Amino acid sequence: MTSVFAGVPQAPPDAILGISVAYRNDKDPRALNLGVGAYRTEEGKPLVLSCVREAERRLLEDPSLNKEYLTQSGVPALCQGSARLAFGEGSAALREGRNATVQALSGTGALRVGAEFLAKFYPGPKTVLIPTPSWANHKAIFETAGLETVAYRYYLPATRGLDIDGLLQDLEAAPEGAVLLLHACAHNPTGVDPSREQWEAILEVATRRRLLPFFDSAYQGFASGDLDRDAASIRLFAGAGLELLLAQSYAKNMGLYGERVGALTVISRDAEASRRVESQLQKVIRGMYSNPPRHGAEIVAAILGDAELAAGWKRELKGMADRIMAMRERLFAELAALGTPGNWDHLRNQIGMFSYTGLSRRQVADCLTAKHHIYMTLDGRISMAGLSAESCKYLAQAMDDAVRNYGDE
Ligand code: LMR
Repeated sequence: MTSVFAGVPQAPPDAILGISVAYRNDKDPRALNLGVGAYRTEEGKPLVLSCVREAERRLLEDPSLNKEYLTQSGVPALCQGSARLAFGEGSAALREGRNATVQALSGTGALRVGAEFLAKFYPGPKTVLIPTPSWANHKAIFETAGLETVAYRYYLPATRGLDIDGLLQDLEAAPEGAVLLLHACAHNPTGVDPSREQWEAILEVATRRRLLPFFDSAYQGFASGDLDRDAASIRLFAGAGLELLLAQSYAKNMGLYGERVGALTVISRDAEASRRVESQLQKVIRGMYSNPPRHGAEIVAAILGDAELAAGWKRELKGMADRIMAMRERLFAELAALGTPGNWDHLRNQIGMFSYTGLSRRQVADCLTAKHHIYMTLDGRISMAGLSAESCKYLAQAMDDAVRNYGDE
């Protein structure tokens, strides 16, 4: 008898996570995974931060903690701490109780719950404006919730910079009141962020056309090494009094990838609306996974709530950001030493854990991956956080080979 599932088609491998699978199957000693955005030490090993180890030790010894269910909103100290981290101590929205903040399964979960909430309750157009390019999962997350996605221009390959004119034109032309997805900092995959003046221009259009900003903040503190600086865009929009959504992740900045810790905040115009919003977020969560897991959230709450642990975290965060910036300089220097054709300034100018190299699909697939065992996404994105001084040299040689001997189509 044939299976009732016989007609299920094979799904394609995930554009990012599928690359880690291919890497694990490659037994060549030179194999290098620059696909997924995950921090590695100079020795190429995953890093558990000391503040996380210490927080876990304290949690283990705390007799008051148990394994009871959380509410749908999660650990209260995680929610309050996350909102303060993003919006700042002086935030009027927080002071006035205009935020509904719930724990989420990292940034993806926050986006997903936010998307579900918007699909049910947002009275404006069910259209989400997404930059081109964007993180490969954004479109899927919003469309799974039944929202339509529409692209807006973001990156200009010719300048390897922001297409601010195209971006503003597309926001002008979008349906009034559409949801506007913005990367808070360290745009993934391009590493190209708007300047302060450009953020102000985006804010002006968003305000005038009543767009609803949905910030994805996956790299606070990890981009520049400074938590406040990386939250500047969020604070600019919240400070201007806009209603907005914010997805936060602790995957990168606390190295809690697999613990799946994050938060979703909805800022409303009045505190009373916020309480009703939170009740509906809870309802969405109850229907999806009932309530979130405790362990990772308690780690984050312990770090955010303790001056000594928080100070240690900031030091380690700065250390990770600095190492990534050093890798940018290093890769640039290795390419310069090889005299690799082309301009590679963008490697130094882009921000965050990724570099958008400008390598073509063919150069990536046929040269870097097939020939040199270097795994990266086909759009030419590399995780700078996966490099070491040693592997920078190997990568530069492979890139040199690709540029000289493989087409750039
Ligand atoms: C990435 O872009 O590599 C990360 O955000 C990991 C992921 O889930 O895709």
